[in-house]
Amino acid sequence: MSPRLALVTGGIGGLGTEICRYLARSGHRVIAADLGSRAERVEQFMIDVADLGESVHFEALDVSDHAASGSALADIEARHGPISVLVNAAGITRDTSLRKMSEQQWSDVITVNLGGVFNTCRALIDGMVERGYGRIVNISSVNGQTGQFGQTNYSAAKAGMHGFTMALAREVAKKGVTVNSVSPGYCETALVMAVPEAVRNQIVASIPVGRLGKPSEIARVVDFLCAEDAGYITGANIPVNGGYFMDF
Ligand code: CAA
Repeated sequence: MSPRLALVTGGIGGLGTEICRYLARSGHRVIAADLGSRAERVEQFMIDVADLGESVHFEALDVSDHAASGSALADIEARHGPISVLVNAAGITRDTSLRKMSEQQWSDVITVNLGGVFNTCRALIDGMVERGYGRIVNISSVNGQTGQFGQTNYSAAKAGMHGFTMALAREVAKKGVTVNSVSPGYCETALVMAVPEAVRNQIVASIPVGRLGKPSEIARVVDFLCAEDAGYITGANIPVNGGYFMDF
């Protein structure tokens, strides 16, 4: 059997790149799907994953556009084969307190972070169900569990992703398709580095492990959930946050 095909949205981003690496190393063919407009970043990504050879490809995909993402995914499947593993890691922030938040800042975050999950899952779910196999992992956030000052938009989208995850998990549980979310804490990514240094230092001081997470520490969990023998884990949310938020 040829290696399963995995598609990672936000695939050239901070977490996405490392997720692509892990999935390739565990034997998947991988498509890093991301905005095609950032030629320099795409070039850098291809250099970063050059050691993985032909197992990783880049494809342009804007998850925020329902019709365009649907046809892009159909085209990707026509050229590369059926997608068995979907990791939704595309995400943006537009941090500001609600009192200053514009409708645009609200809708940009909801459209990409939550709408994007609907768009990709909607396009790929039928194929997974028909083939009787699928792994979907949605990258949520600790801030979807706790809320964060300045992130009513982002926290709403990330909490929404988990509700979506549980609902879809129930719908496809008998069809060999698992749907889970992973909720990273604060990691060494551009998104977190964009937080003002003083605010970031305060946050790091409150993380029991005492440091930011590494993208590889998120990717390891995603890869675990995407394995063939992870078929009994579905509708779960796995926190990876250095103890920043503990719940049961
Ligand atoms: N907690 C409590 N009060 C705060 C605060 C905080 N974190 N930040 C600001 N305030 C207070 C200010 O002191 C100020 O008080 P006064 O009115 O008394 O002066 C008031 O709230 C308003 O502050 P600002 O005018 O600075 O608020 P703002 O609308 O400009 O927003 C902010 C500030 C940009 C949100 C800034 O606080 C910030 O960047 N916070 C960090 C947000 C964050 O953690 N984002 C995570 C990004 S990474 C990510 O999202 C990845 C992931 O999944 C973990």
